[in-house]
Amino acid sequence: MKTQKITTDINLAIDSLRIGKLVAIPTETVYGLAGNALNEKALKQIFILKKRPLHNPLILHISSYEKLQEITKNIPFKAKKLAKKFWPGPLTLVLDKKNKISKTVSAGKSTIAVRVPNHTLTLKLLNSIDFPLAAPSANPSGFISPTSATHVSNFFKDGLDVILNGGSCSKGLESTIIGFENQNPTLYRHGAIPISDIENCIGTIDRKIKNDLNPSSPGMLSRHYSPETPIILVNSFSKYIYQNKHKKIGVLSFENKESFSLATKHEILSKSGNINEAAKNFYSALHSLDSKNLDIIITTLLPEIGLGKTINDRLKRAVANW
Ligand code: TXA
Ligand code: MG
Repeated sequence: MKTQKITTDINLAIDSLRIGKLVAIPTETVYGLAGNALNEKALKQIFILKKRPLHNPLILHISSYEKLQEITKNIPFKAKKLAKKFWPGPLTLVLDKKNKISKTVSAGKSTIAVRVPNHTLTLKLLNSIDFPLAAPSANPSGFISPTSATHVSNFFKDGLDVILNGGSCSKGLESTIIGFENQNPTLYRHGAIPISDIENCIGTIDRKIKNDLNPSSPGMLSRHYSPETPIILVNSFSKYIYQNKHKKIGVLSFENKESFSLATKHEILSKSGNINEAAKNFYSALHSLDSKNLDIIITTLLPEIGLGKTINDRLKRAVANW
């Protein structure tokens, strides 16, 4: 078996990408599992390694807005406005694709998801190659997204020779995805840019979140962003911790308001109750709890302000079907 390199040397990544191999790349949101978006072999390998269903399209990464015209067409005015304000950054736009981009990327659709990531190393990499990178989050489908090179390495021991190490992701949540339906901007996924910031830029937009969360039919929710340890969402910690006191309990709390003597492990997202800090630590805290051989993880929703909405969206999906 070839040893995996965790490196800051972009040349190693470039060499691998040029011959159709996959590399992991850091971004400000989460790490991506990247391949040459113009190489069918690389695209297929992404689906295989991630165990991603073929009907779930990939997301493309480019170095700047100027490259957008090469791969998409009919760019709405509001898409341009958003890109000018938020790129490089955690904004993904879903736009009509040009033929240059294959249907393997778009999973047969006429649109593609694309963004300019805001990470020095990955921007340097994108500026050194002449093809876009297809890069979904670097986790097996359904699992917790990776926010460090170690998270990626723990998921993929084989099939990934190079992991570009860009440290821990500064935002820690995936990009906000905006599509356009009859020119109308529509939110497809809550992400690292709060919806209020998007609406401050282009006015009120529609919402059409995939697997729309409907509490009355939890069976409809597909499990996603999930730890392997059973996880439950509760209204208040003490009652449920007491009920589970004979188990090895992990607690994931927003702030540092209470201490839990019956818990084996307690991860606090932000001691001072800062929602952006909580976002940055969120996946990392889940990875950490999941590695401790606990019987159960107990958590609560966060305040629905700013990135609290995105974290709550991920929490609801993480607990679905447990
Ligand atoms: O922050 C991010 O977006 C990270 C980093 C690596 O850039 N990437 C990421 O990729 O989260 P992924 O594949 O885990 O999520 C991308 C989402 C998927 O849910 C996919 O269904 C959606 O984008 N998507 C891709 N193409 C689409 C399209 N044409 N229409 C609607 N949704 C699309
Ligand atoms: Mg993902």
